[in-house]
Amino acid sequence: MNLQDLFSLEGRIALVTGGSRGIGRMIVEGFLAAGVERVYITARKEDELQATADDLGDKVVGIQGDISTLAGCDALVEAISAKEDRLDILVNNAGAAWGEDYTSFPEQGWDKVMDLNVKTPFFLTQKFHKLLTAQATQNRPGKVINIASVDGMRINPWETYSYQASKAALIHLTRRMAARLVQDHVYVTGIAPGAFPSNMNKVARDMEAESAKGIPNKRVGDKFDMGGSAVYLASRAGDYTIGETLTVDGGIVNAHLPNHFADPAGGR
Ligand SMILES: NC(=O)c1ccc[n+]([C@@H]2O[C@H](COP(=O)([O-])OP(=O)(O)OC[C@H]3O[C@@H](n4cnc5c(N)ncnc54)[C@H](OP(=O)(O)O)[C@@H]3O)[C@@H](O)[C@H]2O)c1
Repeated sequence: MNLQDLFSLEGRIALVTGGSRGIGRMIVEGFLAAGVERVYITARKEDELQATADDLGDKVVGIQGDISTLAGCDALVEAISAKEDRLDILVNNAGAAWGEDYTSFPEQGWDKVMDLNVKTPFFLTQKFHKLLTAQATQNRPGKVINIASVDGMRINPWETYSYQASKAALIHLTRRMAARLVQDHVYVTGIAPGAFPSNMNKVARDMEAESAKGIPNKRVGDKFDMGGSAVYLASRAGDYTIGETLTVDGGIVNAHLPNHFADPAGGR
């Protein structure tokens, strides 16, 4: 067994939505380390998108656009179809959150979050079906990776009602889409990140030490954690993992003792 081949993305064409910063960028860096042929990144802010593409080198191509609408998804599919005859890896990473007190939480806070976090991964994958299946075989399957969250696996105290529901929905949608697309040799999986420093997770970014205290392995996530997980799922190494959402969280979901166990004086 050759480790290089097992995790290689050589010859693969990838798209990472929201690849201009944060978790999307971490995934792009992982794909580059694994030798990806080309990786497209998308975002609404042209300057930041272009700066990231320039920074990461000529294998990274930015396509500006808002993919929270079906028209935006169509425009992206059209732009990539004009350049490529196949897409090997699609990472549905772009996401939004909304936090507000329960009593005033508005409809807009549902529409914005459910559109981008749930509808967009479904419709973008549907609209890329032709390119994703173009060269997909059992020996070289296409890959779709949905970026969910640990917030879709257990509740957290923040009043992000639609966000937590959207990520739980995405984890279930990952299984349902996997069951359909496995027939076409396209394998759908997910990643549920814990705390990764980013614009969205300003607490992990600006109060890293505080955030780390609540995480079983006592640190926030980094690009090696995220890049490594995405490369695993995208490469030959992950070909037998289908419909699964991989938790990448330092133990928050699966290795977190309830307080009354963690504190020897409590609960006894
Ligand atoms: N960071 C964490 O701790 C954490 C934990 C669990 C899950 N996640 C998930 O990880 C994913 C990435 O989050 P992040 O923390 O990296 O957030 P981020 O730093 O805010 O990055 C979000 C990315 O998505 C793009 N984006 C947002 N809305 C878009 C739209 N309508 N159309 C196109 N692109 C859009 C952003 O660029 P523009 O603003 O320029 O459009 C940016 O590139 C999200 O799905 C999030 O829910 C994050």
